[in-house]
Amino acid sequence: MDDAVELPGWTHVYSGKVRDLYVPSAAMDDDDSWTGDPLRSSRVVLVVASDRVSAYDRVLEPAIPGKGAMLTSLTRWWFDQLPDVPNHLAYAEDDRLQVPAIPDEVADRATLCRTLDMFPIECVVRGFITGGGWKEYQATGAIGGIPLPEGLSNGDRLPEPLFTPAWKAPMGSHDENISYERTAEIVGETVAAQLRELSIEIFERASAVAEARGLILADTKFEFGADRDTGIVTLADEVLTSDSSRYWDAAAYESGATPEQRMASFDKQIVRDWLAVNWDQGAFEAPPTLPQEIVEQTAGRYRELLERLTARA
Ligand SMILES: Nc1ncnc2c1ncn2[C@@H]1O[C@H](COP(=O)(O)OP(=O)(O)OP(=O)(O)O)[C@@H](O)[C@H]1O
Ligand SMILES: [Mg+2]
Repeated sequence: MDDAVELPGWTHVYSGKVRDLYVPSAAMDDDDSWTGDPLRSSRVVLVVASDRVSAYDRVLEPAIPGKGAMLTSLTRWWFDQLPDVPNHLAYAEDDRLQVPAIPDEVADRATLCRTLDMFPIECVVRGFITGGGWKEYQATGAIGGIPLPEGLSNGDRLPEPLFTPAWKAPMGSHDENISYERTAEIVGETVAAQLRELSIEIFERASAVAEARGLILADTKFEFGADRDTGIVTLADEVLTSDSSRYWDAAAYESGATPEQRMASFDKQIVRDWLAVNWDQGAFEAPPTLPQEIVEQTAGRYRELLERLTARA
């Protein structure tokens, strides 16, 4: 396991499947700011993306070399493409923040952020039908309770992008797909409407950017939080990365004869496909170790996405 490293001046407060969170150690010692929750006690959080890879909600072995840095570059690049969307970035140069230096060893995969009050909602948007959405459609003719036309095939473009949220279950349990109405019960009507509107808008803009680079953005997942000073709904976490999204090659999509050829993907589909054949998900055993060639292919796909998106025209 690729564990969180020790960073001088920073205290490790949380690890998700992929990211490790740190706050300035001083925030833990300050009686005025201490809330009992290390993350909430600090105005800033250092989000360090590791090379860990997860699929089906499990962290796999081994890690994908360079993945943390690639995810971090992609997220930064997308924030730059969306300058008018409020995001969680904080800047170490801001004198008021008084943050310790960001150590060189994590500089390429660390992002200094404002600590937000996160909404426990995964804001999934689907422009094309595949993956879990495809399974659900086959079983029910709908995704997230939204009825769809008959006769769709795996990989088809949806009539319009769908907002199909999931509830972020507490550590240890699986995220749960929920309806828009349930989302409104959890975060309130006003915030739910904002989450849906922002998610669809960002997805449509990003799809156009991807398309101009010969890529299809098939689906993605956003997370938002409330700014603790202003309450503004703010884009957080990772954004439009190959971990949080499915990207396909547009030319292959147009010319491909089989679903596999159409959905030539720049994401961890390779890992999912390998696991589907080599691991019984129902079993309690840990997933098997990924073979070296799967690790290399995945790293290669992530690298190619980053290059294709960020190359200057
Ligand atoms: N600006 C922010 N303020 C507070 N928390 C944030 C911010 N940006 C991201 N996060 C949180 O940091 C964590 C990132 O870790 P990671 O993505 O590895 O977690 P995960 O495995 O997806 O799931 P979980 O959120 O259940 O741990 C997430 O919990 C995310 O909600
Ligand atoms: Mg996450």
